[in-house]
Amino acid sequence: MTGQHTAPIPVIIDCDTGVDDALALLFAVRHPGLDLRAVSCVAGNTHVDQVVRNTLTVLEQAGAPAIPVARGAERPLLEPVRTALHVHGRDGMGDLGLPAPGRQPADVDAVTLLRREILASPRPVTLIPTAPLTNIALLLRTHPEVTRNIERIVFMGGAVATGNATAVAEFNVWHDPEAAAVLLTAGVPITMYGLDVFQQVVVEAADVRRLGESAEPGTRLAGRLLAHRDPVTSEEDPCGGLGDAGAVCSVADPAGLTTQRLPVEVNLAPGPARGQTIVDRRPRPGEAELHGEAREQTLVDVALDIDAERYAKLYLATVER
Ligand code: BDR
Ligand code: CA
Repeated sequence: MTGQHTAPIPVIIDCDTGVDDALALLFAVRHPGLDLRAVSCVAGNTHVDQVVRNTLTVLEQAGAPAIPVARGAERPLLEPVRTALHVHGRDGMGDLGLPAPGRQPADVDAVTLLRREILASPRPVTLIPTAPLTNIALLLRTHPEVTRNIERIVFMGGAVATGNATAVAEFNVWHDPEAAAVLLTAGVPITMYGLDVFQQVVVEAADVRRLGESAEPGTRLAGRLLAHRDPVTSEEDPCGGLGDAGAVCSVADPAGLTTQRLPVEVNLAPGPARGQTIVDRRPRPGEAELHGEAREQTLVDVALDIDAERYAKLYLATVER
């Protein structure tokens, strides 16, 4: 590999910070192969104003340059806001008592910032939504011309197998199913980093402890956030799931992710399957297609397997730089 001579990949993260969104931001600003050009915020894990505050605080703690951050949608297209504070704490950041940020968000809304930064990038941007897809849907419908400078979209959302918000629906898609359906019409390559791989990448307890004791504020924050993401509750020495940060690892190091190009559709019907990502893994057409009932479906690079150890190591090496 000639990786060290390659120009960094321009990326933009759309997030609902959020403990694991914060882990994703800490990684993105420290990985030399990524050029984080903007961050847009959306309601999801917590309310959008809190998301903006959390995002600015994380970037400051990481010692990142003044990357533009904008406030986006304060609720999904149709649904009400349904936060996940039981997972992310009352402040959406694990109630770690973090300081308020010193700087303000951009004086433009998220859709305007996304358009500006995507079109201004000298190379096509990789867009990484780690949140409900409301901002992205609004962007695609307001400024469809942005797709000419989008390399691909790697979104954390959906599930091939089991959901978390419901038995079948993953939180980001469930929170705004219509927006996720709009995303699938983008007409650019899309990778779905769903729950099937999201839950697999875990940093071991000893590493979490070491990070949390670091004298460097960004590294220490990563350790404290990871400790909040113990998949095995009530352990004294917690290990920590990377969550959204794994999607950003997969952009920096695509070789750790196994994907297959498959038809994907979002279930928009009211009822128990609303928000499910229906991934068609059948090896051949079925009776529905044979009887002329085929619908047009977007082909998506769906993550089916992940080298979890590789990404856990990559994460540590990057945030401890
Ligand atoms: C997703 O939901 C949120 O709680 C996480 O930040 C992640 O983006 C997982 O379903
Ligand atoms: Ca998130």
